[in-house]
Formats: sequence, structure tokens, C-alpha cells
Amino acid sequence: MKGFRKKYYNVFSHFYDIFVALHSGDRGGFLRNYLAQKVGLGKGDIALDICTGTGSLLLSLRHLVGDKGMVVGVDFSRGMLQVAREKTKKHVNILLVEADVSFLPFKREVFDGVTCSHAFYELKAEAAGRCLQEVSRVLKRGKGFFMMEHDIPSNPLVRLLFYGRILSMGSKKALEILKGEEGIFRRYFPYVKKLRTQTGRSKIIICRKETKEGANGMEGNGGEVGFSTEVED
Ligand SMILES: C[S@@+](CC[C@H](N)C(=O)[O-])C[C@H]1O[C@@H](n2cnc3c(N)ncnc32)[C@H](O)[C@@H]1O
Repeated sequence: MKGFRKKYYNVFSHFYDIFVALHSGDRGGFLRNYLAQKVGLGKGDIALDICTGTGSLLLSLRHLVGDKGMVVGVDFSRGMLQVAREKTKKHVNILLVEADVSFLPFKREVFDGVTCSHAFYELKAEAAGRCLQEVSRVLKRGKGFFMMEHDIPSNPLVRLLFYGRILSMGSKKALEILKGEEGIFRRYFPYVKKLRTQTGRSKIIICRKETKEGANGMEGNGGEVGFSTEVED
């Protein structure tokens, strides 16, 4: 089954960027820049983008970490990575790794931030859980996982396609996502917060790993561990 999915993404890689630009209306990459900004990276930091696809987010992250930092993109589709490689070839500190996100080939606590754009819903329930466990393992303490996804669309036809995509991941995960998805992330991270993007069509879920002092030591959490929703304007 995984072999089929990889082949599907390999074929998709040839027209993926055009499809995304038309589908999201985000031709300038505004949403991905916005996601990268939210991570709070500084010069010299090390960032990871999982399910990086054609690498659309990598250049935004690279801009933030500068020449002394490093950006790593992981994907299991060779086709997607080829397109990403072409886009990022000018930068020696953007590294592309072919791997399944269920088993990240990195040491623990090495990344200052991990992102995932429009891909988490495409992981099967088991892979999604395993992936969150891995992301938590490779993140430094107090640092965050930033996941951007489409919110429930208002257009009935697009909404139907959205539900189809969610249901294809397995009924348990589909149910959790439709009920608010808090439970999925809270199993692996003590602090979970949801932001709506300016377009109102996407959301960013921020999951922060505990600090050395535990969840209570986290900035902006007010000592509480929970799921809050903020609307950005
Ligand atoms: C819809 S694309 C999103 C690409 C990119 N993040 C973006 O914002 O355009 C989903 C990507 O997830 C990758 N992917 C899906 N399941 C994966 C897995 N288990 N391990 C690694 N990559 C995976 C696919 O190969 C594909 O490139």
C-alpha cells in the first residue's frame, strides 16, 4: 500500500506546484511564508520540514536561519524530492532526506522547530501517531511543531472533497479530526494551540514540547496545558 502511495506522489510531483497554486489561490507562497514566520526561528537555528514535497517551505525557512543555520526537508517520494532539489540547489545548507516520517533518521533533540504543511491529514492513523512521537523526539525542549492544514471549507463541493480526504485516513483518525483533533496532538505534546490564518481557509496547529521545568515553564501557556484557538488578524 505504501508503495502505491509513493508512486502516486511521484506522478503527482510533476504538476503538484501548479495544482496547489490553482487550488489554494496562494500563488505567491504567502501561506507558507506565514507558517515559517510563526516558528520563531533565529539565525543559526536548525529547522526540519516533514513531508516537504516539492520543498515550497524550505526557502522560507532558509531565509530565517541564514547562512549559519540549516534546513532539512524529509519526504518519502523521490519524485517530490527531485523537484525540491532543483528549487533549492543554490543553497548548501538545505538538506533533502528520503525517509518515511514514521522513522525520522535523526538524533533526539536536534531541531529548533519542525513544520508540516498540508500533509499531516494525508498520513494514515498509525503513521500520524508514530510521526508525532518522532517529531517530539527530535525537537529540542521548549521548541515547537507547526502544522498547517486546510480548515473545513465553506464551498459545499470542496467540503465534500475535504471530508473524502479525511475519511480516507481511517475512521478513528477521521473522527478525531472532525471532532476537533485536539486528542491526536495532546497525546504527544503538553501544549497545543490553534491559529486561523488570515485567509480563513487554513489553520496552524502549534504543538510545543515541554521545557526542562515541564509544561508549566512554557511561555504564553500561563501554567495551563490545553487547546486554545486564536484568530489572527
Ligand atoms: C500534499 S503533499 C504536501 C507537500 C508540501 N508540504 C506542501 O506544503 O506543498 C504531501 C507530501 O507528503 C509526503 N508523504 C506522505 N506520506 C509520507 C510519509 N509517510 N513519509 C514521508 N513523506 C510522506 C508525500 O510524498 C508528499 O510529498
